[in-house]
Amino acid sequence: MTPEEQSMGDLYPRLLDRLKAGDRFLDVGCCLGQDIRKLVYDGVPGENLVGAELNAGFIDVGYELFGDRDTLRAQFVVANVLEEDAPVWKDLHSQFDVVQLGMILHLFSWEEQVKVFEHAIKLLKPGKKGVSIIGQAVGHLLSEAHPANRKNTFRHNAESFKRLIDQVSTKTGTQWKVEASVDEGLSIYDGKRTWDDPNTRRLLFEVERV
Ligand SMILES: C[S@@+](CC[C@H](N)C(=O)[O-])C[C@H]1O[C@@H](n2cnc3c(N)ncnc32)[C@H](O)[C@@H]1O
Repeated sequence: MTPEEQSMGDLYPRLLDRLKAGDRFLDVGCCLGQDIRKLVYDGVPGENLVGAELNAGFIDVGYELFGDRDTLRAQFVVANVLEEDAPVWKDLHSQFDVVQLGMILHLFSWEEQVKVFEHAIKLLKPGKKGVSIIGQAVGHLLSEAHPANRKNTFRHNAESFKRLIDQVSTKTGTQWKVEASVDEGLSIYDGKRTWDDPNTRRLLFEVERV
């Protein structure tokens, strides 16, 4: 295990500690809101948690599935992360200590990923050291774009991910400590799907403002 994997291995307990102490968390592409509910289950105050999801149906199904429409204190918004000027984001900018991009990055091209990180930085508390952007995505040992794919979606290895953040850093004039690694988590390459590629991996990342 590399030092990076070791330090990211305790990401969840570190996240829990800071959220229980009052930090605010946004889950972009939250789908059913399962990660938010897990945090509440583990003791985080729901008031400090927001989920943003492109597809309103997922939010509704989440409430139905968990049966907590009247009790869950977290907030959900229907929003497209690529449309940072949409009114729905206005009250959310500059509000968060942690932004999660959970299994969403690989849906976007390199250029869109730059936009997603620029937007994530706007959602974080401005100028505050220690705020972070965390997540996982479908990665690739060789790092590659999918030219056949209409959107040219990009899958990273640790090096290409660091290049992406370097570009974001230069563009935004902000500095970040980047940890990134790829592994075989989430059964990401188990040969069960016809489109499985032996170079597919899970990308894990933690990007902290310094
Ligand atoms: C693969 S799912 C991951 C769900 C969850 N974060 C997880 O880790 O299990 C990707 C989610 O991102 C949402 N999504 C896709 N494009 C989006 C966008 N532009 N803005 C916000 N959410 C988006 C999808 O609707 C879907 O719920």
